Amino acid sequence: MTQQAIEQDPVNVGDLAGKHIVLGLSGGIACYKAAELCRALIKQGATVQVVMTEAAEQFITAVTLQALSGRPVYTSQWDSREANNMAHINLSREADAILIAPCSADFMAKLLHGRADDLLSLMCLARPIAAVPLLIAPAMNREMWAHPATQRNMAQLSGDGATILGVGSGFQACGETGDGRMLEPPELLEDIIAFFTPKVLAGQQVLVTAGPTYEAIDPVRGITNLSSGKMGFAVARAAREAGAEVTLVAGPVSLSTPRGVTRIDVKSAQNMLEAVMQQAPAATVFIATAAVADWRPASSAERKIKKDGSGQAPQLAFTENPDILATVAQSPRARSGELFCVGFAAESHDLADNAQAKRRRKGVPLLVGNIGPATFGRDDNALLLVDAQGSRELARASKLSLARQLVAEIASRIQRAG
Ligand code: CTP
Repeated sequence: MTQQAIEQDPVNVGDLAGKHIVLGLSGGIACYKAAELCRALIKQGATVQVVMTEAAEQFITAVTLQALSGRPVYTSQWDSREANNMAHINLSREADAILIAPCSADFMAKLLHGRADDLLSLMCLARPIAAVPLLIAPAMNREMWAHPATQRNMAQLSGDGATILGVGSGFQACGETGDGRMLEPPELLEDIIAFFTPKVLAGQQVLVTAGPTYEAIDPVRGITNLSSGKMGFAVARAAREAGAEVTLVAGPVSLSTPRGVTRIDVKSAQNMLEAVMQQAPAATVFIATAAVADWRPASSAERKIKKDGSGQAPQLAFTENPDILATVAQSPRARSGELFCVGFAAESHDLADNAQAKRRRKGVPLLVGNIGPATFGRDDNALLLVDAQGSRELARASKLSLARQLVAEIASRIQRAG
């Protein structure tokens, strides 16, 4: 089989270039995470203006945030550095978004009531609501989070146009375990990047396969391949950023699930086929990046196969696995154009010809080819988009960037077809 050799480095830089973010900190132990978040935003090219409440200053110093953001921190509505003494107006007018992280239960309640007795709440109230989005990363004890008052406030804030980024679950600083802790900085960063991405796949249901499959020989051994699944995970992330509902059917890989993506873990090609066929009826786009094993052992022994002392290796017979992509591409919904299918192919030579032949064989409108040996293990890649009209190269770039270009390409093809 062809090793699906397109690897994906999820780390991009410059995803927030040109964005000016006002990062507001209210009081909570999660303030320590805001320092890392501030740094992460800046690493992605954003400029960050920090505003802190008095309570936030109990948890982390303004000096830390000033050093990380490279700008003096604002803490008071009476800040005399502003010539007009209207920090709340000036700061909110230049922002592309206001992000409150952490947002305490108390600060949520304040926002809800439109109170404005400190700089941060005043600034949120004074922001031009249509031009400056408000993003909220709540952080609190699990009982506070579950309290009807907090849940009510959250629903109302969302009704008032704020974007609630959700909370994490697990061990909390207070020693209890449950929902309510602030999302980790990398999770918040992923959500913020997604927030700013144009929603070219809004309303689409995207189904992605990724990673290798594992074909058992016996309970302790099997055959698999070196696919890391990174390309498929990046495609899933890019599709979610573009506003799609994404389901990712993943073979055995050690990657974390992209934010907002539903993941179904499978092992064998047969398992992958079953999961895909279950999901396919609801999908509008199917992207097959998985390196599906072409063969499986004809039978899997129930017990570990032992050496019998003869010095002879056991004879293994193989059966061909179902072709998942070709199966989906032959379904009536795919043939009628309701389900847009995209395949991948890693080749070692004659890329354009081999990819074109594979595209026809699989019966898909679009196939993404690449040279396996030139990409395996690398953080960048170059792709060749092959369709009935010919081929077009996506120049060498980071793999997440290529995944985003592919998503944009799929979106424009769906739009043209619709
Ligand atoms: N694919 C699949 N099910 C299979 C084999 C492949 O869904 N059993 C999909 C892959 O996910 C990929 C495309 O088909 O999108 C091409 O996979 P590749 O392994 O390159 O092609 P093969 O059909 O295995 O052809 P060959 O190994 O002969 O190059």
